[in-house]
Amino acid sequence: MSKVTVVGAGAVGATCANVMATREVADEVVLIDIKEGLAEGKMLDMYQCATLMDFDTKLTGATNDYRVSAGSDVVVITSGIPRKPGMTREELIGTNAEIMKGVIEQVVKHSPRAIILVVANPMDTLTYLAHKVSGLPKQRVIGMGGALDSARFKCYLAKAAGVNINDVDGMVIGGHGDTTMLPLVSKASIKGVPASQFVTKKKLDGVVADTMVGGATLTKLIGTSAWYAPGAAASAMVESILKDQKKIFPCCCYLDGEYGQKDICIGVPAVVGRKGVEKIVKLDLTTDEAKKFSDSADAVRATNQVLSL
Ligand code: 2OP
Repeated sequence: MSKVTVVGAGAVGATCANVMATREVADEVVLIDIKEGLAEGKMLDMYQCATLMDFDTKLTGATNDYRVSAGSDVVVITSGIPRKPGMTREELIGTNAEIMKGVIEQVVKHSPRAIILVVANPMDTLTYLAHKVSGLPKQRVIGMGGALDSARFKCYLAKAAGVNINDVDGMVIGGHGDTTMLPLVSKASIKGVPASQFVTKKKLDGVVADTMVGGATLTKLIGTSAWYAPGAAASAMVESILKDQKKIFPCCCYLDGEYGQKDICIGVPAVVGRKGVEKIVKLDLTTDEAKKFSDSADAVRATNQVLSL
């Protein structure tokens, strides 16, 4: 029996639960929210899709009752306020850090063996907070950002190159912020062929710029933060954990010397399997990329300083 709890029944949390339910990523998916009836209602609505979409995942909703989540293998934390047009993710820190502390306390109490996947923003700093407050081993606290940013990078690259999106490979490392993320053009490829053979330097610069403000563009269009790709990215990571797929995701990991960084959670490629972060993958970065990664780490650290730890 595998069990996943998603904390926060807003758009991202509910979408993540929905993708996991329909793909039968876990035997049971629990959704928790502080708003009375919201999680119960959304899970009942989802369960009514079962015969229409041919899935058989046990779905449970609960109002702030973590006993229902007891014994979860993975807990996805999406709770917190989303950004509004014009806001940065970093501006959410005050409110969302307080929410995160309360959630972590409940998660550790009821699911002491769980792997925690942080989705709430500012994601890198909240992953660091979750790591510190939970006291869990570094392998078991992961942030989702890079998986989402890499999916956006591949989307813009496929559009620019005019090729099938599933032939595109690319990754985004660094912080999950409009100015801190680092789409790695040097590593981007289409069916193993360097992306630079398909797309001009100017267009590639455009792909990088679009990727970096990918979330902000959607927030402006929709009026609030995106949810389809964030929910799907979190589900893909949970699937890799529960099914021990050992897929490589750029994601937010606690670094202890890797990439020249210590005591920080930031995006790097990692093998994600049943034990959580099973291996941090080393990349040969260009001098420019290494400098940008180090600047990104400085920016993430500056946001971490706001936490009273
Ligand atoms: C985004 O980039 C929610 O941070 C998330 O859309």
